[in-house]
Amino acid sequence: MYRRAGRVDLAAAADISEENLAAFQEKFAARRAFSDYRQMLEQVRPAVVSICTYVGLHREMIEACASAGVKAVICEKPFVASPADLTAVRALAERSGLRIALCHIRRYLPAMQRAVELFHGGAVGRPTLCFASLDGWDLSEMGSHWFDLFRFFNGDAAPLWVMGQARVTNQRGFGHAMEDHAVAVFEFANGCRGVLEAGRPHPGGFNILLAGSDGTIRILEENTLSVDSCDGRRVELFADHPGSGWEAMWDHLLQDVLSWLDTGREPMTGLGNISPSVELNLGAYISAVRGDRVDLPLQDDTSEWPVEILARRAGG
Ligand SMILES: NC(=O)c1ccc[n+]([C@@H]2O[C@H](COP(=O)([O-])OP(=O)(O)OC[C@H]3O[C@@H](n4cnc5c(N)ncnc54)[C@H](O)[C@@H]3O)[C@@H](O)[C@H]2O)c1
Repeated sequence: MYRRAGRVDLAAAADISEENLAAFQEKFAARRAFSDYRQMLEQVRPAVVSICTYVGLHREMIEACASAGVKAVICEKPFVASPADLTAVRALAERSGLRIALCHIRRYLPAMQRAVELFHGGAVGRPTLCFASLDGWDLSEMGSHWFDLFRFFNGDAAPLWVMGQARVTNQRGFGHAMEDHAVAVFEFANGCRGVLEAGRPHPGGFNILLAGSDGTIRILEENTLSVDSCDGRRVELFADHPGSGWEAMWDHLLQDVLSWLDTGREPMTGLGNISPSVELNLGAYISAVRGDRVDLPLQDDTSEWPVEILARRAGG
């Protein structure tokens, strides 16, 4: 993505793993390489930093970037590990002017953008339900994309509440406890509900169902829309669209971040717009911890990954 951008110099890479850093350098040849990201920030003073580590490291890395005068951070999802981290990072961005974009690159897929046009635009009537199973994946490492997409399909409506339940035993991955099975039910300000199931294989795979008062839209393989309404069935194919490739999504994200730096206009993947999706995601787990519905915006000062709390309770 950086290599293709033309106006970006890939100044440095940092990784605590010697092996991974060497592999990165072999493929991308950044001008300098560091085992300590703080040294990299101090010595290189980069303008833009991609944070591609696990969620538990994001807050401290963002704080270090702000201290080193970084102008923009492109941060992986899930964004932060706790409600307390989210509050702190939002305050930091406000205070320092650090621009933070999240890698919710699926927003750039032509099929997803067309789904917004149709669903939010009323092609199947009033939006009533978004459903997906994460086909074995969890509510955060993969589910964070889907929470965010469901908001996207509803014109980035504010989420009002979320009820979450999770079975957690001893599964770990990406540096944190992970659920075996979980479900989240939530509502957006336009009245549309979302239902997201995680942790169990599902015959529908990752496919998404959007139901309206007058029909349905199914998003298949992230590149095909099947629209059923009183006019019959219509299928729209996006697999061969030039914007549907993996590289195109990332290029779009970087262009948005660079133009944010140039013009001051925050893109749809900026923290300001994505923040309610992060609250919805964390809120689903907090709901499971509390055994109660969580109303949004999130009022909570939990300072650890909520699934760790559930894992401790389960004796994991
Ligand atoms: N946006 C997307 O589409 C997308 C795609 C894949 C992965 N991800 C996300 O990216 C994150 C990383 O996933 P992954 O599969 O690439 O993991 P990974 O284990 O392959 O890579 C993580 C890297 O971070 C390095 N690292 C760990 N601690 C570090 C530290 N203190 N300083 C510097 N480097 C450190 C590790 O050595 C490793 O090389 C996850 O949160 C995942 O959800 C997002």
